[in-house]
Amino acid sequence: MEAVGIRLSSITKTFLHRVKGRITAVDDVSLAVEPGELLTILGPSGCGKTTTLRIIAGFEQPDAGRVGIAGRDVTDLMANRRDIGFVFQNYALFPHLSIFENVAYGLKVHGRGKKEIEKAVGEVLELVGLSGYEHQFPHQISGGEQQRVALARAIVIKPKVLLFDEPLSNLDAKLRVHTRGEIRSLQSRLKITSVYVTHDQEEAMAISDRIVVMDHGAIAQIGTAEDLYFSPRSEFVARFIGKVNTVPARAGRSREKEIELEIFGHTYAAPAPDHEVGRDEDVRAFIRPEFLELSSEPADGHFDAVITERTFLGEKVEYGLEVGDTSLTVVAHPQSGGGVLSLKQRVGVRLHGENIRLLQEGDGA
Ligand SMILES: Nc1ncnc2c1ncn2[C@@H]1O[C@H](COP(=O)(O)OP(=O)(O)O)[C@@H](O)[C@H]1O
Ligand SMILES: [Mg+2]
Repeated sequence: MEAVGIRLSSITKTFLHRVKGRITAVDDVSLAVEPGELLTILGPSGCGKTTTLRIIAGFEQPDAGRVGIAGRDVTDLMANRRDIGFVFQNYALFPHLSIFENVAYGLKVHGRGKKEIEKAVGEVLELVGLSGYEHQFPHQISGGEQQRVALARAIVIKPKVLLFDEPLSNLDAKLRVHTRGEIRSLQSRLKITSVYVTHDQEEAMAISDRIVVMDHGAIAQIGTAEDLYFSPRSEFVARFIGKVNTVPARAGRSREKEIELEIFGHTYAAPAPDHEVGRDEDVRAFIRPEFLELSSEPADGHFDAVITERTFLGEKVEYGLEVGDTSLTVVAHPQSGGGVLSLKQRVGVRLHGENIRLLQEGDGA
């Protein structure tokens, strides 16, 4: 089966909320999901992820905008005509039906014959590693297995598109990591174009071809995990994906691709931001914790700092530092048997200009 693309064009959806009044759940969202791609919508609770997914599925009508699947406008098409498999957070299995009957349900609704159903259900149960579970009931199997049944049920109808809404939220941490790997490998093997919703940045980074970060119903940024981590366009994205330090900086000379920044008395050449920054303007610079290098000799640094917190985590050490009034977080990877710095120790800090970013402040979408 040929993989298909999905296109959302200027989708807007408002709700009349009993407490909040009229709210814009999805605010002029346009995006294209490539054929075979797994695209994740990531964002805080209430930012419009589920609503966007339900609009793709056809469970919700947009107030404005169009939904296209495989180059065809499906905005006015009923959900059950869109050829979509949906995996929900609560697996929504039928408790009184066996695993076989749960998976077979969609095929029966489509009026398939008994032989065909048996073959198809057997194949997908094998695909999700549940051969032999046909006669079990949902309450007899674990949460992880139930979620695999839900996945089997979604793919057995051979949908063109798979939609996932926080499918791992009810699993414990270890099982979440394991199951997301299974979802990803199955999705790549079947090459079914998928949209996956989560509020968990690590899950998004682990599973996705690309990530859409949503904020208040709008798209803050779309890119690969690397794009978002190393080149966030706004403070919101920088803070949502990974940890980040904010430090006061004074802008100096600008050249085409670089801007001079004075930070803690040292001058760096940082990549020029997308927005205008005037000379001598006071700005805030953003630095990821792993780009600050510590030295036990204060004189070796560009500036010095005092260690105020220290968390040894095995493969890494997280330090809290103070430079005057500014607190910094640093992640270091000391070699075995030494190099872990002490609390209250004065240290030197070095930093490469290329790792400093100036972002649009605030939500900056
Ligand atoms: N049926 C509805 N009626 C009223 N408000 C809704 C409805 N569905 C969603 N909302 C509101 O729309 C916003 C986005 O919700 P949702 O898409 O569920 O966010 P997310 O999945 O990112 O947590 C929230 O403020 C939510 O309260
Ligand atoms: Mg949701």
